[in-house]
Amino acid sequence: MSTSAGRRIDEEANTSWRQRSELEKMADLPQSLDDELSRLDKQFWISGSKLKEIVSRFREELEEGLTKDKQEGIPMNITWVHNLPSGKEKGTILTIDLGGTNLRVCKVDLHGDEGGKEGDGKHSMEQEQYKLPEEMKTGDADSLWNFVTEKVAAFIQDHKLDQQYSVEKPMPLGFTFSYPATQKRIDHAVLQTWTKGFDIKGVEGQDAAKQLREKLQERKLPVELICVINDTVGAMVASTYNDPETIVGAIFGTGCNAAFMASLSRIGKLDSNDDRITDASSHNGATKGEEKMAINCEYGAFDQAKRVLPLTKYDEQIDAESPRPGEQTFEKLSAGLYLGEIFRLILVDLLDRSLVFSQASDQGLQKLREPYSIDTGFLSQIEDDESPKFTKTRELFHSTLSIQPTDVEIELSRRLAEMIAVRGARLCACGVAAICTMESIEKGHVAADGSVANKHPKFKRRWAKALGEVLGWKEKDCGGDGPITITSAEDGSGVGCAIIGAMELERRAKTKTH
Ligand code: GLC
Repeated sequence: MSTSAGRRIDEEANTSWRQRSELEKMADLPQSLDDELSRLDKQFWISGSKLKEIVSRFREELEEGLTKDKQEGIPMNITWVHNLPSGKEKGTILTIDLGGTNLRVCKVDLHGDEGGKEGDGKHSMEQEQYKLPEEMKTGDADSLWNFVTEKVAAFIQDHKLDQQYSVEKPMPLGFTFSYPATQKRIDHAVLQTWTKGFDIKGVEGQDAAKQLREKLQERKLPVELICVINDTVGAMVASTYNDPETIVGAIFGTGCNAAFMASLSRIGKLDSNDDRITDASSHNGATKGEEKMAINCEYGAFDQAKRVLPLTKYDEQIDAESPRPGEQTFEKLSAGLYLGEIFRLILVDLLDRSLVFSQASDQGLQKLREPYSIDTGFLSQIEDDESPKFTKTRELFHSTLSIQPTDVEIELSRRLAEMIAVRGARLCACGVAAICTMESIEKGHVAADGSVANKHPKFKRRWAKALGEVLGWKEKDCGGDGPITITSAEDGSGVGCAIIGAMELERRAKTKTH
């Protein structure tokens, strides 16, 4: 942070949480807690000028990532997705999505524009979800791929796919692997580092596609892994299939990340004479200079060097206690996995200083001290609660933590939930603002998915307001109807992955005939 920018005091930075809060007051706070809230607010509130400073550094890291291969900051991973879909893609693809809690397997039928079908009519799907065993997230590669293969086998059997496909005539398989990976080809993915709390041994630095492919072959399953994609790229592609105004695919969920189509000429780290590029562009009809490539930013890694983000001691603690300290700095402040934990750490801090929960049971306090015992859904529900006397929040504390909060504790929790979520939403706007300024994008749709985008009642509005502040929109455009709006993404890891698979099959077919 430059000193002059640091010292600049804008009007907004001088307003207090009381003036900014949208919440109705439910109880007066004792002076001690009121002082605490003011102290916390100073650390959590990100003013308009600070947002601009963050976006300017963000843009520098995005640009560095496009030119340098191995760098400290945002990786800007090349995906080998050269074009957005035409909407005519057809075919039947099996897709798997390794999410934070579930493995989802889908059989997707893409109908293209056959019969003029629009919207959801353009595809149909059958799907199953399998819960990931908790211990797998800290287990080893073998158990991970055995689990995935076993579920793929079960799906194939249950949906009688083995009657149509065989090892000789395999069903194309697409894999949504939403972790940072470098790709030499679209069916290759070397994991750079686990994110989102995963810590499975033996995958980092290895080709995850190869590891999975070997297991699938061992079991002689009638599938062929043809593409590995990131959830952000899937969201962008699936949404463009129906909405050509899509400019960015973003995930605001357990993790936080985005993808966009970059001009090849801007990707300095790519050799434009590389066969893989000339080959792909000659088949997608793009003329020289117009060729594009989807970039998976992996911007959860922003500000690893801790130059500009305003970190609180709670953020530092989350980082220190995570499986990969020092990594994903931006994500740890803004993504769903961490918002509930920040809230919990603040409550524990206040508890340790005897400022809250003096009447709570030992059982309740024990639960509160358990890491990650409060998730982001908890914060969403608090902010969503309009019941008289906030009975829903009371019930929530009781069912999640076995704590009966006092009126003052409810009031405090509501303020904290707002403070943390507002900071998260404002930070989330920075990544998209940086992409749009770097690419001179002035209008379009940001197709967003993830639990925070979809389930938090106020996220989209707060995000739009912050984006407007950074991009200098008129006040009237900051309410969600500005030139750049957030839309709900189509199913990226199912439909998006299938479309990318279909485009890859088309590319392979064309390459063969040339
Ligand atoms: C994490 C992952 C990234 C993914 C995002 C959203 O940031 O590293 O690949 O897109 O979470 O799921």
